[in-house]
Amino acid sequence: MGKNKLFRFAENATFDHVVQPCYADLMADDLPLKGRWNSDFFHRDAPLVLELGCGKGEYTTGLARLFPERNHLGVDIKGARIWRGARTTLEHELAHVGFLRTHVDHITRCFGSGEVDQIWLTFSDPQIAKARKRLTSPLFIARYRQVMKPGGVVHLKTDSPLLYRYTLEQVEAEKLLLQEQSADIYGELIHRVDPTQQAVLGIRTFYESMWLEEGRKIHYVRFVIP
Ligand SMILES: C[S@@+](CC[C@H](N)C(=O)[O-])C[C@H]1O[C@@H](n2cnc3c(N)ncnc32)[C@H](O)[C@@H]1O
Repeated sequence: MGKNKLFRFAENATFDHVVQPCYADLMADDLPLKGRWNSDFFHRDAPLVLELGCGKGEYTTGLARLFPERNHLGVDIKGARIWRGARTTLEHELAHVGFLRTHVDHITRCFGSGEVDQIWLTFSDPQIAKARKRLTSPLFIARYRQVMKPGGVVHLKTDSPLLYRYTLEQVEAEKLLLQEQSADIYGELIHRVDPTQQAVLGIRTFYESMWLEEGRKIHYVRFVIP
């Protein structure tokens, strides 16, 4: 393993705002913070916003700047990427931001019933061959139903036409409430939303910047879990 990664892993272990449950502990029992994120981690009662597969956490930190009144948590399996978001949080003195290093499959072990207000899915792997593993598959929607408040909002930002179309199909099949859809955020949607929404949609992630440089269109879906 590279020195850089080792350094990042070691620094993550010193950060109070990075939670890294041991796999065996999580398999044996739910995370002790489950149902207690606001009281025991953020130390205030506020809407909880997750970014699943957050990578370097651009949405987690970007949304924290725009909505300081909410609690923000980035979730990813890769410690070296989470480190970037955790460092940005410190460098920009952002409050109420944290990172959880775990597999997204474990979210029901990590969050209690009705604990989550919003979920952002940012450039998730479209899982071309394995629909079940897509983060908007019926399996994941069922998990979101468990951890989200009724009326919780899910946002998907993707460069993948397949994941975009698949998500719209799932919204219909699962009888979810479609709030917004666009096959081209920057060519279309951004021109018909208010300035706050423009700022939200305009947050650029690491992968998004790469895809934009390649000339790909960025798609967006927002739906509500009734
Ligand atoms: C394509 S990257 C997107 C990263 C970031 N959201 C962005 O837009 O730059 C997908 C991210 O999902 C994470 N990921 C993939 N499978 C995961 C899993 N099962 N659990 C948690 N994170 C996962 C990867 O580590 C990676 O950071």
